[in-house]
Amino acid sequence: MISVKSNRLFIGEVAASDLAGKFGTPLYVYDEETIRSKVRALVQQVAYRPLKVYYAAKANTNLSILKVIRDEGKDFLGIDAVSPGEIVLALKAGFRPEQIMFTSTSVTDEEMKFAMGKRVLVNCDSLSQLERYGKLNPNSSVCFRINPDVGAGHHSHVITGGPESKFGIWAGDVGKAFDIAAKYGLKIVGVHQHIGSGILETDKFLAAMKVLLSVINKHKGELKDLEFVDLGGGIGVPYRPDQKPIDLAGFGAAVSSLFAKFCSGFGRQLTMALEPGRFIVAESGVLLCTVNTVKQTPKHRFVGVDTGFHHLIRPMAYGSYHPIVVVDRCTSEKTEKVAVCGNVCESGDVFTRDEHGIVDRELPSVKEGDVLAILVAGAYGFSMASNYNTRQRPGEVLVNGRDVRVIRKKESLSHVVYGM
Ligand SMILES: Cc1ncc(COP(=O)(O)O)c(C=O)c1O
Repeated sequence: MISVKSNRLFIGEVAASDLAGKFGTPLYVYDEETIRSKVRALVQQVAYRPLKVYYAAKANTNLSILKVIRDEGKDFLGIDAVSPGEIVLALKAGFRPEQIMFTSTSVTDEEMKFAMGKRVLVNCDSLSQLERYGKLNPNSSVCFRINPDVGAGHHSHVITGGPESKFGIWAGDVGKAFDIAAKYGLKIVGVHQHIGSGILETDKFLAAMKVLLSVINKHKGELKDLEFVDLGGGIGVPYRPDQKPIDLAGFGAAVSSLFAKFCSGFGRQLTMALEPGRFIVAESGVLLCTVNTVKQTPKHRFVGVDTGFHHLIRPMAYGSYHPIVVVDRCTSEKTEKVAVCGNVCESGDVFTRDEHGIVDRELPSVKEGDVLAILVAGAYGFSMASNYNTRQRPGEVLVNGRDVRVIRKKESLSHVVYGM
């Protein structure tokens, strides 16, 4: 677990400052027990069976983390893959082809052929993709994604339902999907939706679920081969101090009972699928960095660190809040308001910001050489990192109790300069 003991940040049994000392910064650190406990909690609290949990690999694709998730999830866990690369990683992590679903958008024929070649189920995002899939792979099984005209999420960029969203087949158009499926002899084994990311209220999830289930009910006749309904991911985690975790027991009970009721009306017990990404890995990860600069303008006291939005883009992309602590002085009586900024040559590269700009953060007085931890960084952190400014991506380590394992080496300068 990630905890504070004697005012110092610990990941498992290891002090964050020791990790920074041993491996250098910037460094992503993950706590294995947190990942395992999130998988366990989800599978326990969502009591409906049969249940399938497709971990949305895009949240964190590190191979060692995928292996931890597979090991903990046993037969419940599969992978939601958005690209051939994620399919390869899922197979490498030991997931079987039938445990993987390929859900992408603006998909090429080559990508579909790749998934088919690996015997991975394709989830079609549009009528045009379904038509091309039918031509490529007639008389096979398929899933398709519906846009239920209900969306939710922590930022407009991650709301994936409703008319502003490019995702899925519009719910009113599903009749056309059945025509295409019939033309090519496709067996529709799954229907899918994903309405957005960072949802902390069960009600929003249930509202979209009801729309999807009513669409399925309306088309019962055309869905004789249906085996599963995938309700998508999006379960949020708290980032801000004023946010509360989702009531997982309430979520699990509500979703399970609604789905069970739906199945009894449908006349068959179907598999219920979920696709959490953030929920499983976000709270397991921290990004460690070192302060190298402190400077003052008339408006802000800037604290410059050796990482930036090329390593954690969420504040810059969505104005997202991430808690930040000084690892060896998590609290202090002497505090100051600062703007923690990165080393990318853009003014937006500030970790303490919202959508509109800088929001100073009260931290214990910071000096050069202090190690900071940017918390709740396990999801959409490294997986969205880049080599912008021709900088290396950081290393990643996985902590299990006292055990520390390097699960990705920091990139070398020759990697970013010569691509190797
Ligand atoms: C289709 C699909 N499923 C699942 C997810 C996972 O979302 P989250 O990490 O919020 O659970 C995403 C995220 O973009 C997605 O696009």
